Amino acid sequence: TITIDAAGSGPSIDPTMYGAFFEDINQGADGGIYAELVQNRSFEFNSADNRAFTPMTAWETLRRGSDGTVAVVNDGNRLNENNRNYLQIDATAAGAGSGAGVGVRNSGWNAGQKLEAKKKYNYSVWARTSNPAGSTLAVTLETPEGARLALATIKVKGDRWAKYGVTLSPKSSTGAGRLATVVQGTGTVRLDMVSLFPEDTWNGRENGLRKDLAEKIDDLNPGFLRFPGGCIVNTGSYDSYTAPNYTRARTYQWKDTIGPVEQRPANRNFWGYNQTYGLGYMEYFQWAEDMGAVPVPVVPVGVTGCGDSNRAPDQATLDRYIQDTLDLIEFANGDAGTEWGAKRIAYGHPAPYKLDRISLGNEEYKPEFKAYFTQFYNAVRKAHPEIKIIGNTGPFSQGPEFEDLSAFNATTGVDLVDEHYYNEPSWFLNNNHRYDSYSRDSYKVFLGEYASKGNKPENALAEASYMTGLERNADVVKMASYAPLIANEANTQWSPDMLFFNGTSVRTTPNYEVQKLFMNNVGTKVVPSTQDNPASTVVPISGKIGLSTWATSARYDNVKVTGADGTALFSDDFSGTAAAWTGNGTGSWSVQDGAYVQSSTTAQNTMVTAGSGDWNNYTFSTKATKLAGS
Ligand code: AHR
Repeated sequence: TITIDAAGSGPSIDPTMYGAFFEDINQGADGGIYAELVQNRSFEFNSADNRAFTPMTAWETLRRGSDGTVAVVNDGNRLNENNRNYLQIDATAAGAGSGAGVGVRNSGWNAGQKLEAKKKYNYSVWARTSNPAGSTLAVTLETPEGARLALATIKVKGDRWAKYGVTLSPKSSTGAGRLATVVQGTGTVRLDMVSLFPEDTWNGRENGLRKDLAEKIDDLNPGFLRFPGGCIVNTGSYDSYTAPNYTRARTYQWKDTIGPVEQRPANRNFWGYNQTYGLGYMEYFQWAEDMGAVPVPVVPVGVTGCGDSNRAPDQATLDRYIQDTLDLIEFANGDAGTEWGAKRIAYGHPAPYKLDRISLGNEEYKPEFKAYFTQFYNAVRKAHPEIKIIGNTGPFSQGPEFEDLSAFNATTGVDLVDEHYYNEPSWFLNNNHRYDSYSRDSYKVFLGEYASKGNKPENALAEASYMTGLERNADVVKMASYAPLIANEANTQWSPDMLFFNGTSVRTTPNYEVQKLFMNNVGTKVVPSTQDNPASTVVPISGKIGLSTWATSARYDNVKVTGADGTALFSDDFSGTAAAWTGNGTGSWSVQDGAYVQSSTTAQNTMVTAGSGDWNNYTFSTKATKLAGS
């Protein structure tokens, strides 16, 4: 019997209950949702981003009926200080015919550029020529074999950098397009920022998003958009205030990612590739606004995470990062009378971005974290009491670090804390009640990253089941987002993901469908219900049960398992052997001194045993005693 208290006093569910978390992981930005079709458009790829990269990655040299040299150059003739490399073409012998000339061809991402017949593609390039009479560029869209799909010419005048553009429309479609640019005639021509965008980006935005992918995300109807990470936020060196900002592997700084795209420096992405920052903070804010989602930026707070061993910044550098955080809020919400609000307006967005919350840090847990976080927290709270502050709980929200940070968060005054976990489906089924016992008088929860490990229907069902527990606790859990959101099939660092794509199509997953279902049917209020099981509904289950261990070298004794009704199902004091128990995951288990001991040095192992019984509602509790010293 299910009793529904229709007039009851369940908690309200916020419209921001479910949202999307986008990180540039799995080649998700460049070569992903950022609609740029040219790979390595400014010749900035280098081996510091990925050992396989060179400044000519994705480019090939063309000498079509002509002669000359092509080289990537880094010298005083560069486009600007942030954009160091450019392409120099010295054409020495002219060819005949409309497509003849010396130049380069770009292979795009995945199998090539997706070009659709009759659609429009906007080509642009920064160029200069030493030829006093000017130089002509022939621009073609073509197949890998060189069959021409569209041709246009551009007249470059003068030896100063200027932006040129033309629109092309291919006569037939291909998923493996190539973009060629050659210099007709002779002379020295310099090129940079060679770019090709489909005209129909999502919502028609210039420098915008790939339509098919962005549509799928918009279909989720996200209440918020968390960005830009994830690990890309809290990794890298903090030295870009002492070294030039084009230095590689520096910590993500939002100021690098705004303004004209040709002035944004490139950086190494933590996930092993190059990031152009073409999809930067202005684009993220715009994306959130276009989806009707609340923007939730995540900024670094001076502590590297995600296994990155970079040193912490000195106090002067830390102060700059704190100021950057305040400047970000001003950039988002300030008016024309403020320095950073004026910049947003000058860049084309007069209205504020309506920022009302900010995440300070991502999965950070190092000795200096609490002191650094407190400085950020105090500065933001003082300057912007109207902004909600989101703290974090270290990596994977479980174990002693989590407990320590939870206790810390309860003392700070943060509005929400960001939890992350990736677990087996069984964990999600068994932990449906996680938030039932959270304090109602403390911070609220932002479940910023979670997923069961897999893209099978049973994973999606486990997540759906778990989401009912989130929703039941909507007075505590205020926001939740599955992670990661998208993955390029050709370059996936993390799986499972919600959506997979290649150069031409997008594949949804059962997990996506579950998210879409919940996100498009967010209630306004929880209707309390209780269930009374008559004896006939007791479900007998048998199989394996497990105890997750979070510390290394854990020791367990007196494990007891009881049904929801309190009936003892079995217990084990490990006085004999542990034959029924096995380790699951890395490391090994053995009985020592009457306790079950994990010898692994890796956290997050699981001990499992066969068990069976009549467990009401599949609910059981485990009680384990950790022995002293572990
Ligand atoms: O979502 C993938 C990664 O998982 C994120 O970058 C990080 O925050 C977490 O460890």
